[in-house]
Amino acid sequence: MSPNVSYFNHNSRDAPRGPVKNICCIGAGYVGGPTCAVLAWKCPDIKVTITDISEERIAAWNSEELPIFEPGLDAVVKEARGRNLFFSTDVDGSIAAADLIFVSVNTPTKEAGIGAGLAADLCYVEAATRRIATVSKKGAIIVEKSTVPCRTAESMRKILEAVSPSTDASFEILSNPEFLAEGTAIEDLLDPARVLIGAMPTPGGQLAQQRLAEVYARWVRPEAIITMGLWSSELSKLAANALLAQRVSSINAIAAICEKTEANVHEVSSACRLDLRIGSKFLEAGVGFGGSCFQKDLQNLIYLSLSLGLPEVAEYWKQVLVMNAWTKRRFSKDIVQKMFSTITSKHIAVLGFAFKADTGDTREAPAIDVCRDLLEDGAVVHIYDPKVSEASIDRALMAKGACSHTATKGKGYIVEPSMQQACAGASALVFMTNWTEFSSKQVDWKAIYQSMSKPAFIFDGRNVVKDVEALKKIGFSVYKSGVGY
Ligand SMILES: NC(=O)c1ccc[n+]([C@@H]2O[C@H](COP(=O)([O-])OP(=O)(O)OC[C@H]3O[C@@H](n4cnc5c(N)ncnc54)[C@H](O)[C@@H]3O)[C@@H](O)[C@H]2O)c1
Repeated sequence: MSPNVSYFNHNSRDAPRGPVKNICCIGAGYVGGPTCAVLAWKCPDIKVTITDISEERIAAWNSEELPIFEPGLDAVVKEARGRNLFFSTDVDGSIAAADLIFVSVNTPTKEAGIGAGLAADLCYVEAATRRIATVSKKGAIIVEKSTVPCRTAESMRKILEAVSPSTDASFEILSNPEFLAEGTAIEDLLDPARVLIGAMPTPGGQLAQQRLAEVYARWVRPEAIITMGLWSSELSKLAANALLAQRVSSINAIAAICEKTEANVHEVSSACRLDLRIGSKFLEAGVGFGGSCFQKDLQNLIYLSLSLGLPEVAEYWKQVLVMNAWTKRRFSKDIVQKMFSTITSKHIAVLGFAFKADTGDTREAPAIDVCRDLLEDGAVVHIYDPKVSEASIDRALMAKGACSHTATKGKGYIVEPSMQQACAGASALVFMTNWTEFSSKQVDWKAIYQSMSKPAFIFDGRNVVKDVEALKKIGFSVYKSGVGY
């Protein structure tokens, strides 16, 4: 992709476009599913088909047990499904019928070849674009919903124009990055802080932008619908995630100083939050960020900076990732060190495996790294998460090569059905996700303490434990990230 290629002279061959009546979403994942389910729910007169190459995923969307857990999602899907919301594996048929197509496929980091470990792998975007070029109807609007490197729309246009069988095909590409956060996706989609719609400054681009804005205007506050240039919109998503991740790494860097100085990072961060220029969000110290986006979007930004000949900029953002990896490793090391420098054959309860509360998503979850470290050090790990299945835990740990070097049989870890069962017989419990059930008043800490091996340790990487003194009184040794006890 060359940033010097200009689109501003693009010879627009726009077909007249009326209001959007039929939408197709390619990719029925964490973004495509909830986003278009909410759209269908709010716009009953628009037919919305969410399509995916994964038969398993589509079957789950059509079943009682949706493939992802998201508070409020079930009710939205159940009301709209079969009315104007459909889930289908007929990718071509769904594209062919649509006058607006969201591309919501995955954009993981490349694992091999040029840019491996940093660049976005756009093979899924390209495959989807080729299907659009081949089967979409004239004048269809194409919307980048996936997070993509800046100027991806330019590559998409080249593919569309080269592959389309029609000599007078007309494609308008918009950028409409998604800002939902897993765990609050439905809330975020119903009342988004902003909806960005980026377009080329051509008459066709402006008209397509207006058509998509009209769809959102059915339920989104007008002042939250922001129109801008295509490249700014693409870059805004990477910029927003980089800034959020940077806050987490910054507060974790302060947490490390707190632990050495007997300062308390929660006191420090609450003091910082009161400054309106800083703001109150994403200043929770802990065991680092996870999720499918921050890591890969930062890698993407680093790669973009390097490609643009900006090594200092790349180095700046790289430190955010370095700090995150170090934070996770430091947490594991602390566990071993505080448990008398050996955890061989000790039972350790890991409470929470999802990368954050209210989601079953384990992508890049810090729990994966910490479990891997504990297993490598010979511990027997008992994992409990209210929303993550054993199969997902197995997949996540296997992908990281996490295995026990001491287990003579089995995997070296056991997935437990409850917090109490994970803790029974354990020498330590480690909080890796801030599920509300862990901090609930219903938790009988005395009973948990009695069921554990002594001394009984608590390692809190998620600020779950609020009343440390009460737990100490029971007999626990408590360690919290960023608190210098
Ligand atoms: N997960 C989030 O919280 C989040 C938030 C904002 C943006 N994003 C971005 O949204 C995009 C999608 O993320 P996700 O978490 O939904 O990914 P996902 O892996 O959950 O879903 C992507 C889906 O696309 C399908 N797919 C891939 N190629 C296809 C093709 N050619 N035709 C049909 N289906 C195809 C896959 O089978 C998969 O089900 C990514 O670019 C991501 O960075 C994610």
